[in-house]
Amino acid sequence: MKIAVLGGDGIGPEVTRQAVKTLRAVAANGPQFEFAEAAIGDAAYDTTGDPLPEATAALAERADAVLFGAAGTYESDLRPQQARGGHGLLRLRKRMDLYANFRPVFAFPELLGASTLKREVVEGVDLIVLRELTGDAYFGQPRGVHEENGERIGINTIRYSESEIRRVAHAGFRAAQGRRRKLCSVDKANVLESSALWREVVIEVARDYPDVELTHQYVDAMAMLLIRRPRDFDVIVTGNMFGDILSDAAAMLTGSIGMLPSASLNASGQGLYEPVHGSAPDIAGRDIANPLAAILCAAMLLRHSGKQPAAADCVEEAVRRVLAEGLRTADIMEPGATLLGTEAMGDAVAREISRLAA
Ligand code: IPM
Ligand code: MG
Repeated sequence: MKIAVLGGDGIGPEVTRQAVKTLRAVAANGPQFEFAEAAIGDAAYDTTGDPLPEATAALAERADAVLFGAAGTYESDLRPQQARGGHGLLRLRKRMDLYANFRPVFAFPELLGASTLKREVVEGVDLIVLRELTGDAYFGQPRGVHEENGERIGINTIRYSESEIRRVAHAGFRAAQGRRRKLCSVDKANVLESSALWREVVIEVARDYPDVELTHQYVDAMAMLLIRRPRDFDVIVTGNMFGDILSDAAAMLTGSIGMLPSASLNASGQGLYEPVHGSAPDIAGRDIANPLAAILCAAMLLRHSGKQPAAADCVEEAVRRVLAEGLRTADIMEPGATLLGTEAMGDAVAREISRLAA
């Protein structure tokens, strides 16, 4: 497999290195990988004046899969849109048409104590937030800031076409078929026309999947239900903006956002694999970031783009074993556990992979 490695900004490069380390450990026993690195985000903007240089986009498009770190920092968020590191990522998502963003939320039994929520609420949580990734207020026109009657007006547009809703709904139903056959669609249909259309189209698509139980929730109610009875949910499908917000909230069920991987897929099966946590510039370069989300991204890459389910299982099992041994990074540290840095955590997972293969 040809893998484009885009480490990006903040902790992106250091956690992505651990994911590459993991894949090299996997490669010792089978699948072969060819890695090629390229710049994205602030790092790319600072050297080329573009947060998504053409060479990077072309490399990503040609690859079988993209291993992505993070893009953007607090400073660049204040620049005009085209100069923001995070905008490089948004353009890459759009250019590769990566419309289906799967964010699995799995509560590892070893980490139940690390969640801010009660054990009995988070025990057994196993859900996927499927976030539409190429539409909504993120890309809708018109957008911008202009002046009217001597004051500034900011505008963004929530826009969804029927076909955009339909394809992500199909992805949601198919995902549910492979799991507990429950799909919950999240919208704000009581207020927004775009959401009313969303709900209508999801109901139409449901006719093709009589074996899946479809429910609907408004996004505000969903925010509440996610922390009240998260075990009730299997696959949650929603738009770009609601998905962005709900997936951070859902991350907390697992104890740390440092545990959450994601896969962004397009219709031709290409995938970009990205930890949900972002660049966290405040802890960058200090070898304290949790690399497990990036490592779990490597597992998703093996499963979805690599069609290597056994290798994916092996990586996930290695993560489970490392946690069971009581090894922790700072974000999931508990009394009595052993504190590891980013590199050492990557080494520990690679070692378990080699053991599992032996
Ligand atoms: C995410 C992030 C991005 C988003 C940012 C970095 C542009 O928050 O992937 O969840 O809003 O999509
Ligand atoms: Mg986000």
